[in-house]
Amino acid sequence: MSVAMNRQKKVTTHVLSEMKHNKEKIAMLTAYDYSLAKIVDQAGVDVILVGDSASNVMAGWETTLPITLDQMIYHGASVVRAVNRALVVVDMPFGTYQGNSKEALSSAIRIMKETAADSVKLEGGAEVVECISRILSAGIPVMGHLGLTPQSIHKFGTYTVRAKQEEEAKKLIEDAHLLQEVGCFAIVLEKIPAELAQRVAAELTIPIIGIGAGSGVDGQVLVLHDMLGINQEFSPRFLRRYHNLFAEISGAVGNYIQDVKSIDFPNEREQY
Ligand code: KIV
Repeated sequence: MSVAMNRQKKVTTHVLSEMKHNKEKIAMLTAYDYSLAKIVDQAGVDVILVGDSASNVMAGWETTLPITLDQMIYHGASVVRAVNRALVVVDMPFGTYQGNSKEALSSAIRIMKETAADSVKLEGGAEVVECISRILSAGIPVMGHLGLTPQSIHKFGTYTVRAKQEEEAKKLIEDAHLLQEVGCFAIVLEKIPAELAQRVAAELTIPIIGIGAGSGVDGQVLVLHDMLGINQEFSPRFLRRYHNLFAEISGAVGNYIQDVKSIDFPNEREQY
């Protein structure tokens, strides 16, 4: 029996901290809807992220910027209704926290009240520390997100690896310490050199979850639609595809169309 199957109790921020302490890796995936969240939870994933990547994979936008707080709440509540075991984290969307800690708090409170999720995630370091501190003061657990932060894509201008230069790497390390000091329970590090991510994970006592950040961190996260091969257009080096659901679904739909056209479906047993 796997370690995940053995642990049936609800995953909390405390459990994640114990996992880091015990050197047990944390498995995190995104989900945005009831049906897939149910499968992912029952498969034993530790953390489910209702990511603002819903803007890309669910709504078809090019960036994560357009998704709204109401839309994130809709996705979050759908996921929470499906989940028994995993810790559920809901992304705070662009424009609902940056530069205004009062608004950040009211956005986070809406997410917690209207989705019943376990925590929120937001992007950035020193610039958002005041917002994080205010959210934490209301008893809401916060996950940080550093490195490639997609809500800042217009500032970066590209989705390439971040913090390769010394100055940016130094700021990332400082930001990670700051997020830990203010009280974040974990941090996602996206698309940064593996050596840098490993250093951050070794220096910090809170769990560090990587995406495109190598294996020296405390856990990994992937976008569900990417790792299942539903999304064919996105092929970064860090992505491992565990299935080709695009081909499977397309084949099944093709068979259905053929059966309808040939009047093979429905047959006598499939009608009243
Ligand atoms: O929105 C998202 O899916 C994320 C992950 C890439 C970490 O933030």
